[in-house]
Amino acid sequence: MAGRPFLLSLAATALGATPAQWRSQSIYFLLTDRFARTDNSTSAECDTTVGQYCSGTWRGIINQLDPIQEMGFTAIWITPVTAQIEDHTSYGQAYHGYWQRDIFALNSSYGTDDDLKALADALHDRGMYLMVDVVANHMGYSGPFSSQKYFHSPCFVQNYEDQTQVEQCWLGDNSVSLPDLDTNRANTRDYWYDWIGSLVSNYSIDGLRIDTVKHVQKDFWDGFNDAAGVYCFNEIFDGDPAHTCPYQEHLDGVLNYPIYYPLLNAFKSTSSSISDLYNMIETVKYTCADSTLLSNFIKNHDNPRFASQPGVQTTCPSPKNVAAFLILSDGIPIIYAGQEQHCSGGNDPSNREATWLSRYSTESELYKLIAASNAICTHAIGQDEGCLTYMNRPIYHDDSTIAMRKGYDGTQVITALTNAANGGSSYTLSVPNTGFKANHELTEIYSCTSVTVDSAGSVPVHMDSGLPHVLYPAAGLNGSEIYQ
Ligand SMILES: *[C@@H]1O[C@H](CO)[C@@H](O)[C@H](O)[C@H]1NC(C)=O
Ligand SMILES: *[C@@H]1O[C@H](CO)[C@@H](O)[C@H](O)[C@H]1NC(C)=O
Ligand SMILES: *[C@@H]1O[C@H](CO)[C@@H](O)[C@H](O)[C@H]1NC(C)=O
Ligand SMILES: *[C@@H]1O[C@H](CO)[C@@H](O)[C@H](O)[C@H]1NC(C)=O
Repeated sequence: MAGRPFLLSLAATALGATPAQWRSQSIYFLLTDRFARTDNSTSAECDTTVGQYCSGTWRGIINQLDPIQEMGFTAIWITPVTAQIEDHTSYGQAYHGYWQRDIFALNSSYGTDDDLKALADALHDRGMYLMVDVVANHMGYSGPFSSQKYFHSPCFVQNYEDQTQVEQCWLGDNSVSLPDLDTNRANTRDYWYDWIGSLVSNYSIDGLRIDTVKHVQKDFWDGFNDAAGVYCFNEIFDGDPAHTCPYQEHLDGVLNYPIYYPLLNAFKSTSSSISDLYNMIETVKYTCADSTLLSNFIKNHDNPRFASQPGVQTTCPSPKNVAAFLILSDGIPIIYAGQEQHCSGGNDPSNREATWLSRYSTESELYKLIAASNAICTHAIGQDEGCLTYMNRPIYHDDSTIAMRKGYDGTQVITALTNAANGGSSYTLSVPNTGFKANHELTEIYSCTSVTVDSAGSVPVHMDSGLPHVLYPAAGLNGSEIYQ
């Protein structure tokens, strides 16, 4: 279950990875300040509510790569590395990295130049990728942008429906204002393009996550993506595919906010409807340029954690269904540090808990489910890479379940998810349109049980306790680590 072996040789030498290489990755996202400390402490206090530095470092991350890799992740995404404003504001310090001041210096609290390079090396030695978060929309006056002429005149974004305002006004408020660069100036663009190219090469970065993309003109990003030379996915904080998908014409991928909302709604309570999710899978597929390059998530540092939603309790199986969806549908899954421990912080800043307090437990149920889901996905890719570009097909839904198929005949993965309550009635769901023929022997991955396709070609899935189910041809698992 350690990563995706067939990519090892490629990744070890990769300097910058392409969209095609990223399509098969699984990303673990962490806030550098909150993941691991150089002293390896698992008890150092970190009060999320005060918004202050908790002393996470790049060296700390290097020491904790084992539990990430053993959960089946092949890449990590870390928060911005650049030097920040040092003010103590009414929102706390810049521990998150999104208030940068000097784009040519690193935040020394996270470590030195060599420490960041050592992190990239440690990942590459394991065949894993490093993704770094970058911000080009806003920053404090400094370096090449040391004068006001490089910035838009101050005004705060008031109306998020007004795209001109969104692009030209500033984010923030009078306590912390984020000066908005005038990215239409030719010089400004050139500076950014040179900068991103050198950042990627100086630190051997394999991919980028770009912050606040919709606050900059779309045509700025084509050059930025080219100059970066690696897969870039961007944050468009908008659930409308008609608004979000067009950005994929300018950058390789987008965070899948269109799926995020129906996914959240489908699984946050037992009375929610699943049909919006079913429909959105199709809408995204036909609206975005390539749904297999989007990135899927249920929580991050900007959205409240799934486990904080009313109705989603620790004992509830819905976080498992959601994790299975993220990993087994189209696109690149992103699991946010703490998700495997069922952290339940609400809105920012509560959702930025220190992961070390969980002692990186590998025993939690979600940790094991995520590991099993990553493993079957990796295995299926190993058997047929075609499943990466095969567009996820929702094949069945009713009031409380959805089933989807990913992969060509013979190596297809069937995933059946439910939002029924824990301990809900146990019954057999008959899933049609799986592409399997009568009598085909399948294995349910999480329970390691056998299932035989019925005479009509439907797959009988034993639904119990509201858990997710994943089915794969038994013969295809013979000899693999999954089948133990
Ligand atoms: C932290 O853990 C790493 C890796 O296990 C080890 O090399 C290092 O000495 C530890 N540091 C401290 C301060 O204990
Ligand atoms: C460095 O990071 C810490 C913690 O994340 C933050 O509070 C501080 O403002 C940053 N300092 C610099 C110079 O970037
Ligand atoms: C990368 O390194 C070069 C050479 O040392 C330096 O000129 C450049 O500013 C660095 N770029 C970044 C983004 O740190
Ligand atoms: C699994 O592989 C072994 C040895 O290669 C073979 O004997 C066995 O019949 C296979 N089982 C299935 C279910 O294909």
